[in-house]
Amino acid sequence: MANAEAIYLDLKTKLRDVVPDVELKIKSEIAAQIIELKKKRNAVILGHNYMEPALYNSIPDITGDSLELSRAAAKATADIIVFCGVRFMAETAKILSPQKTVLLPAKKAGCSLADGITADDVRKLKSRYPGVPVVTYVNTSAEVKAESDICCTSSNAAAVVESLKGESVIFLPDEYLARNVAMETGRHIIFPSKTPGSDTTIDKVMIGWNARCEVHEKYTVEDIENVRKQFPDVVILAHPECSPEVTGASDFSGSTSAMIKFIRQSKAPRYLLLTECSMGDNIAAANPEKNMLRMCSIRCPHMNEITLEDTLDSLQHTRYVIEIPEEIRMKAVRALERMLAIAPSVPNNPID
Ligand code: 13P
Ligand code: SF4
Repeated sequence: MANAEAIYLDLKTKLRDVVPDVELKIKSEIAAQIIELKKKRNAVILGHNYMEPALYNSIPDITGDSLELSRAAAKATADIIVFCGVRFMAETAKILSPQKTVLLPAKKAGCSLADGITADDVRKLKSRYPGVPVVTYVNTSAEVKAESDICCTSSNAAAVVESLKGESVIFLPDEYLARNVAMETGRHIIFPSKTPGSDTTIDKVMIGWNARCEVHEKYTVEDIENVRKQFPDVVILAHPECSPEVTGASDFSGSTSAMIKFIRQSKAPRYLLLTECSMGDNIAAANPEKNMLRMCSIRCPHMNEITLEDTLDSLQHTRYVIEIPEEIRMKAVRALERMLAIAPSVPNNPID
């Protein structure tokens, strides 16, 4: 049996200022059972950067952003991949590693972006703009990926768009990420779903969609101004799923791992993260000398469905198994592999 006491002592060192002792003791016991079962069943656990601190710092073999975890899933050699993240991430793992059993510890753990577009929507856009390449954010269903030419994540979106030979692209489904990437790549953006008849002949067009992340859409420039008034020395980091007004008023914008790296490598007296709150806890735990301000009234309900208890159940009862029809998978894998051929990135390990 993995040593619950050793896990507790390790978690206590990392999380003493973040999680009360009483909770750490309970969570260490569960983490010990998970680690034991993980070995027995030859499983690997992938944990997204948004996982709650006790889970994030105990059971994952690899932590990271969507791109890093996709790469890890593609290379996995274990029989089982347990994905501590949301459904689109677990589906991506299954598409890339079809021989593995991929488990998502919560039944739904969806995403407002993935729910914001269907494969039929993409087919309609393709017939309206024939020949224009379709770039889809990985925060989409397998069926939507199957209709796409190439996928992207928050860490390689601009590189993916620039890699395409044509000047115009269809970029789906996140309105704000599309606006941010359009600015970065010098494209004019249009939203045919919002304004029918808004087609244009302007060169370098980005055709967007109007789905949004229910977490990042809530941050405002006013939030930033208020925090800066109170803490003039604060450095503000915003995920690119925030509006361009918010990313423009921030000091840095990048994927979840890019934000972690930025804070690790810089020396500001305090930071504010405009992203899921658990990540602020994880960064505070890894950088105790840094002062992290958090805005925790906005949470991702989907990421927060993944708990240590459910992860243990998942391994004990082999649930919830991700299945993707082979004809969908075969089409979706092309778009993902095309993306993975673009920008390499290195997973960060919670243990170091
Ligand atoms: P990252 O790829 O930056 O980790 O983002 C995933 C996500 O869902 C952010 O809300
Ligand atoms: Fe989806 Fe937003 Fe949650 Fe990320 S934070 S999983 S984009 S709803």
